[in-house]
Amino acid sequence: MAVIPGDGVGPEVVSASLPVLRAAAARAGARLDPVEFDWGGERYLRTGRAMPADGAEILRGFPAVLFGAVGRPDVPDHELVWGLIIGVRQALDLAVNVRPVQSWAGVRTVLREPDGVDLVIVRENTEGEYVGVGGRAHAATAHELGIEVAVHSRTAILRAARYAFDLARSRRGRVSLVTKSNALRHGYTLWDAVVAEVAAAYPDVECEQVLVDAMAVRLVQQPRDLDVLLCSNLFGDILSDLAAVLAGGMGMAPSANLLPDGDAPALFEPVHGSAPDIAGRGVANPVACMLSGAMLLDHVGLPVAGRIVRDAVATALRDPARHTPDLGGSATTKELAAEILAVVESS
Ligand code: NAI
Ligand code: MG
Repeated sequence: MAVIPGDGVGPEVVSASLPVLRAAAARAGARLDPVEFDWGGERYLRTGRAMPADGAEILRGFPAVLFGAVGRPDVPDHELVWGLIIGVRQALDLAVNVRPVQSWAGVRTVLREPDGVDLVIVRENTEGEYVGVGGRAHAATAHELGIEVAVHSRTAILRAARYAFDLARSRRGRVSLVTKSNALRHGYTLWDAVVAEVAAAYPDVECEQVLVDAMAVRLVQQPRDLDVLLCSNLFGDILSDLAAVLAGGMGMAPSANLLPDGDAPALFEPVHGSAPDIAGRGVANPVACMLSGAMLLDHVGLPVAGRIVRDAVATALRDPARHTPDLGGSATTKELAAEILAVVESS
């Protein structure tokens, strides 16, 4: 597999996760051979590019990619985010972003009763508001404009919707489509129509359509009723940060970028960014990255290893003494990772 640690806490959580993933793979009788790439902000400052021009093509040589995070305070965010992670998602046409959120015993959250949450956000990953169409005009005048055009295509909606309905079939059989078709009359009415067609082909899956603002409330007030949320790129981005809080925060949220039924490598990454506010202090929570790694192991045909990682994370988190500061504890990245590794090795 390819590994891109990136910037800030990215390298910290990736280096904490790799031994755990390797040990879990070994338990399942397999070997992981990570090949590391120095792509990210530092490389951008040195060469003017966050990754080589043929970076996405290089990644095609691997079945899967583990990515940490990009972003550093001395480089404009859009340069790195577009120059690396969004660039790779688009070049490899990684159509669907999958973001599971669950409660973990022992982890306190903002919820009065923290347990019982188990949902997955399926986010369209290539277009919508992030398609990059638009421009700036009349710089520094009273008429200055920034135009961002959202593009929603039937193809992209279908790919995300079919993935969401298939996933719901393997879970509790419920899809909640999140749109804003009362106010945004073109793109999101297309979403409603196309998803209704898909829903008709899945009579065993229950489907509801919820406006994004109402869904923000539901996620806070009744998250246990939710199973699979099917979202556009922008809404999935925003709601998945909100949903991460239900699991304990950004340090707990894994994700996968996939091209279902395609030949592109899948890319796995914590939902969080480079967290410059805590980078370099050795206190980042490595769980989001490890759980992304567990999804990677599932994807490369090692579901037993994926399960071993998730079980070890669950075991370690039951003890608040192992928690990193974001979870209210005082353990370091290395201490929590060492505990998880010990559980994997004794499993
Ligand atoms: P962020 O996710 O980096 O941080 C948000 C908050 O969550 C911060 O308080 C941070 O300390 C905390 N946090 C994040 N990961 C954590 C972890 N593993 N353990 C404990 N606490 C953690 O988002 P922010 O601050 O908006 O962005 C920082 C930089 O990251 C920016 O340059 C941004 O563009 C970039 N970014 C990159 C992403 C990517 O590479 N996929 C995604 C999001 C942001
Ligand atoms: Mg985000």
